[in-house]
Amino acid sequence: QVSLKLGCGNLKLPVLTQRKNFAPLALSWMSPSSAAGFEGVSDRSDLQDFSVCSSDSFWAAVARQRLSWIRPFHTVQDCDLSQGRIRWFEGGKLNVSVNCLDRHVHTCPERVAVIWERDEPKSEVKLSYRQLLEMTCRLGNLLRRRGVKKGDCVTIYMPPCPLAVASMLACARIGAAHNVVFAGFSADALAERIRDAQSSTVITVNQGVRGGKVIELKKTVDAAIQSCPTVQQVFVAMRTENPVVMTAKDVAMEEEMAKEDTVCEPAGMDSEDTLFLLYTSGSTGKPKGLVHTQAGYLLYAALTHRYVFSYHDGDVFSCVADIGWITGHSYSVYGPLANGGTTVLFESTPIYPDPGRYWEMVQRLKINQFYGAPTAIRLLLKYGDKWVHKYDRSTLKTLGSVGEPINTEAWEWYHRVVGQGRCPVVDTWWQTETGGICIAPRPADPDAEIVPGMAMRPFFGIKPVLMDTEGKVVTSNDTSGALCIAQPWPGMARTIHNDPQRFTETYCQPYPGYFFTGDGAYRSKEGYYQITGRLDDVINVSGHRIGTAEIEDVLCSAVAESAVIGFSHSIKGQGIYAFVVLKKSIDVQEADVTRQINDMASKKIAKYACPDYIQFAQRLPKTRSGKIMRRVLRKVVDSELEGLGDLSTLDDPEVVQEIIQGHHDLL
Ligand code: PRX
Repeated sequence: QVSLKLGCGNLKLPVLTQRKNFAPLALSWMSPSSAAGFEGVSDRSDLQDFSVCSSDSFWAAVARQRLSWIRPFHTVQDCDLSQGRIRWFEGGKLNVSVNCLDRHVHTCPERVAVIWERDEPKSEVKLSYRQLLEMTCRLGNLLRRRGVKKGDCVTIYMPPCPLAVASMLACARIGAAHNVVFAGFSADALAERIRDAQSSTVITVNQGVRGGKVIELKKTVDAAIQSCPTVQQVFVAMRTENPVVMTAKDVAMEEEMAKEDTVCEPAGMDSEDTLFLLYTSGSTGKPKGLVHTQAGYLLYAALTHRYVFSYHDGDVFSCVADIGWITGHSYSVYGPLANGGTTVLFESTPIYPDPGRYWEMVQRLKINQFYGAPTAIRLLLKYGDKWVHKYDRSTLKTLGSVGEPINTEAWEWYHRVVGQGRCPVVDTWWQTETGGICIAPRPADPDAEIVPGMAMRPFFGIKPVLMDTEGKVVTSNDTSGALCIAQPWPGMARTIHNDPQRFTETYCQPYPGYFFTGDGAYRSKEGYYQITGRLDDVINVSGHRIGTAEIEDVLCSAVAESAVIGFSHSIKGQGIYAFVVLKKSIDVQEADVTRQINDMASKKIAKYACPDYIQFAQRLPKTRSGKIMRRVLRKVVDSELEGLGDLSTLDDPEVVQEIIQGHHDLL
């Protein structure tokens, strides 16, 4: 018996070899230069061209080589971006968990699949592929026994831990979709996502532990499901020793898993069946559940993981994002596991117990690729080099950055101090919608030049284009525009759950025939890309994407009117600045309203949604038709008073002076 201590819940895993053979596939590491003998391809730069110009041939060959199919696909793609139709590898059947687990168990069962870097330093837990498969199978059987069926959607509200990964893979094994909700979200935000996904099953832990603090996750689930009539059962794993009150709906997860068989028949899934929903923010108040499907997503996550980071067999890969975000999905779970890699799940924070946490972990776990967010790098930079120098980072080969622009100072510190000037820094641009990395410095050539702070080059099969204000493709270099992608790729989201029209309107209609990313970009003289930021009302706070309308929705019950904008913040990238007008009828103190706003933002969304500044105003600048002129507010906050622009459409230009004065008083 192997005793696997997962926090407190002890799960005994009998030492078994799998009894059934699920169509193993030897994973052949494709060398891109000899890529399946593509015609005319002699080097990696040819391969990049080939992947775009002969996209179907490229993706067909890679899909056959990289994925293990139960039944081969008959059509590479059937896409029409102008209609919002995106379908890849139709006719094919496969199981994602088999691709991530079984085939590696056949070749290397004892290879470490997951290293769980728990919040408590130096207490990591390692799981082999065999152990992770067994855990997944037990959970798959349990879910099946408790009535979860193919096509259902299970909500997972857990911090990064092996049971969370097993939960995702167990859903994939039995054909259920998963909906992972970031465990920092409030009960209200969780409830909204459970309701939209219509989940009848939720998986959680009794308590989370982060930065030495205990977080009451089960209590949050209890509160959330009060307003979720679909929920019939909640699986509760034990992360801490503290008992929780169990209700009639609750299932003691480890106890029940221990009764299950370690073999679980995988469901044969169509390529286009849903693998997961993942909610993200848009420019309206309602988060959107983006739908990702089986084969295309997995293939794209695997290929980008392999090439962007130059991941090689035996490397230890560490993506420190939470599994509640797309980065955690693609680069903590699916990409590395599809590649038979070893992935680190990071449960803690960059400064717990001290600002050396990441680098002590790099030394202890011998990490080869480290993938993190600029906001953490900026924070650590402020603590100084000594926290980095204390630890041996000689195992590091590639450093990655994701989620927001990385400023030059942070890029250079990451490169020079953390990477000792010898590790390439790959600034990777992508989104929940794109499924995987789309623009990054080294998809094709591991020795290619890298310009600090630039995402640089498109990945295989990606054709970025910039659009001008008239909606025409900009062909010249050294220019900026709205970033679109000109042809479909397998990893892209297929639709928005319950709202296909919003998908088409948001991504496909602004520039018909192109996928619109919502970001602006600059293309340099050399043709390299740099992301300049969102073009819509979405802001990025410490790499967390949030719609200004979402925050305004929360504020509207406390104040008469509000306008929320993002501003440049030295650590968080962007901060939240709220202009509010108090209700006239009620006699309230500003301090009380401030407290109320912060309480509501954390209760309805998450802590990171609390405004950094709240400016109380008598009125907001509006056009004669009553539209708030956010452009003016942004300029005031950015101290760009010269560039206020045309104010002639303002209802009352005097209001601008009031706003400027109020801003000065606040700072
Ligand atoms: O604005 C871009 C920014 O993050 C947005 C996507 O957020 P989300 O869906 O939460 O996914 C984050 C992780 C992939 C993008 O529209 N963004 C992401 N990566 C970068 C970036 N901005 C600049 N540089 C990046 N490398």
